[in-house]
Amino acid sequence: MKVLVTGTEGYLGSLLPPLLIERGHEVIGVDTGYYKTGWLYNGTNITAKTLNKDIRHIELEDLQGVDAIVHMAELSNDPTGQLAPNITYDINHKGSLRLANLAKKAGVRRFVYMSSCSVYGVATEGDVTEESPVNPQTAYAECKTLVERDVKPLADDNFSPTFMRNATAFGASPRMRFDIVLNNLAGLAWTTKQIKMTSDGTPWRPLVHALDICKAIVCTLEAPRDIVHNQIFNVGDTSNNYRVKEIAEIVAEVFPGCELSFGTQGADNRSYRVSFEKINTLLPGFKCDWDAQRGAKQLYDIFSRIDMTPEVFNSPGFTRLKQLEYLIRTQQIDKDFFWTKTTVGV
Ligand SMILES: NC(=O)c1ccc[n+]([C@@H]2O[C@H](COP(=O)([O-])OP(=O)(O)OC[C@H]3O[C@@H](n4cnc5c(N)ncnc54)[C@H](O)[C@@H]3O)[C@@H](O)[C@H]2O)c1
Repeated sequence: MKVLVTGTEGYLGSLLPPLLIERGHEVIGVDTGYYKTGWLYNGTNITAKTLNKDIRHIELEDLQGVDAIVHMAELSNDPTGQLAPNITYDINHKGSLRLANLAKKAGVRRFVYMSSCSVYGVATEGDVTEESPVNPQTAYAECKTLVERDVKPLADDNFSPTFMRNATAFGASPRMRFDIVLNNLAGLAWTTKQIKMTSDGTPWRPLVHALDICKAIVCTLEAPRDIVHNQIFNVGDTSNNYRVKEIAEIVAEVFPGCELSFGTQGADNRSYRVSFEKINTLLPGFKCDWDAQRGAKQLYDIFSRIDMTPEVFNSPGFTRLKQLEYLIRTQQIDKDFFWTKTTVGV
């Protein structure tokens, strides 16, 4: 299968192509390169040829002969989405919808969209399922719901979208992100030997390892069409719903000598437990291989191997908001988040 993956220079997007290539698929990448400077360690040497292009500029001819698209290139978390909500809507909602329409026009048969469990928003009773009402709290989460709403009607006999509502990711990637909870706590534990939480850590967070997200994508692309056609899947495992406090405790246990303290209840009221029964029951071959403890150990091993310094941990390339603020401040990207003409490379 010829698969076009958008966001191949991202945290998840850099992990997926080697898996697809190893399974005999042909992969083309697309990425505009906002976080190009961030490279934590050398992983595999299998990479996809990547088209350096904004998804808002993808044309029909870029999609000729493509069997499937895995669409990951967006402004990819809540804080980044809040930086300029109008641009978040431009890229994440309008840009993704435009890409889906072009895909359908080009005869691309599968469209795997990276949605997020953040569409569920604040606390509800019990574990939320794909049938539960969405309750997005930010521009980022709202855009995910809008793409789902607007791409679903495009489904027909020749075009099968699938919506992957991923839990919060964790784990190692050469394109590391330290702005997601477990990775952030692990980085703090390594560089400061302290995790000082300002909140009491009671909110629930479903977690999923980056490689398990990639596994879910591969399973979706290879699944019989009727199983994934126009379906929503929560991506993760029900046993990987943690309270933030538990995540901190797991990390503190794995990183020797790390002190842990908690504060009082915080301002972040996002809290939800998610049921992952559907994906684990229906998607052939899918089962998570990772839990938080194994992921924390993986990070400990990598930080030890590369002797990670605080400068590396804090560098903008690994924290999306910091990097985009830097690109704006230095006028490398313009008000619409396109690279400026004077950019000489980053
Ligand atoms: N990491 C998570 O915890 C998580 C959880 C749920 C969903 N997701 C979703 O999965 C997808 C991938 O996430 P990630 O963590 O790898 O994100 P990321 O920010 O690490 O990577 C996204 C990549 O897309 C590129 N990109 C952004 N806007 C672009 C544009 N307009 N044109 C071309 N390229 C562009 C960036 O340069 C970056 O390399 C996103 O859609 C994200 O919302 C991620």
